[in-house]
Amino acid sequence: MLNLILFGPPGAGKGTQAEFLIQNFGLIHLSTGDILRHEIETKTEQGLAAKAFMDKGELVPDHVVIEMIKNKLAANPDAKGFIFDGFPRTVDQAKALDAMLEQNQTPITGMLSLEVEKQELINRLLFRGKTSGRSDDQDVSIIENRISVYNEKTAPIKEYYEAQDKHVGINGMGTVEEIAARLKAAVGSF
Ligand code: AP5
Repeated sequence: MLNLILFGPPGAGKGTQAEFLIQNFGLIHLSTGDILRHEIETKTEQGLAAKAFMDKGELVPDHVVIEMIKNKLAANPDAKGFIFDGFPRTVDQAKALDAMLEQNQTPITGMLSLEVEKQELINRLLFRGKTSGRSDDQDVSIIENRISVYNEKTAPIKEYYEAQDKHVGINGMGTVEEIAARLKAAVGSF
């Protein structure tokens, strides 16, 4: 089983690159951002509670996203593997994920960490904001807050997986195809 974490700051290209990894390796894509946006669209209680955090670029509470991932894992018992995109985002989420996967004896294979310059992240998200309708892409101050939250609360997860010898840094600058080739080569080396 191949369990990959696609990691990186907002706008690093996690969602974009997940599509290539799904095609190449037949994995199931679990994006907590996508799941939360679906909850908001369908106006569930969970979605409405999450919206206030997302609109400001803050993290949704750990217990909410951990429960979502737990349900998705349980719903896909025959999966060949998963791509975790946007999860884990705190060390507590990483510990919870390890515990869930340990129960199934299918640990994380590796964490692929997309490295992109800050100005490029801002440019990509503002550009997408013209058409995406995403409230958190519209405003530079919210995008800056998302990046700060990433640096403060999410980036420390790298050390957590480095300690397990599972962290791989990937140059996330360049064309989508160039980056996809780097990721494919990295997965091949696991
Ligand atoms: P989430 O949906 O996960 O968003 P994010 O990580 O902030 O950022 P993106 O998904 O926008 O970036 P990405 O790296 O996937 O890049 P993408 O491929 O889309 O989270 C949103 C919110 O939900 C969070 O702020 C939080 O509130 C909440 N949340 C989610 N998960 C949570 C969790 N685990 N815990 C707590 N809260 C959680 O690309 C971005 C743009 O760049 C696209 O337009 C794309 O076309 C373009 N692009 C991609 N690659 C390139 C390239 N190589 N060159 C030029 N453009 C490119």
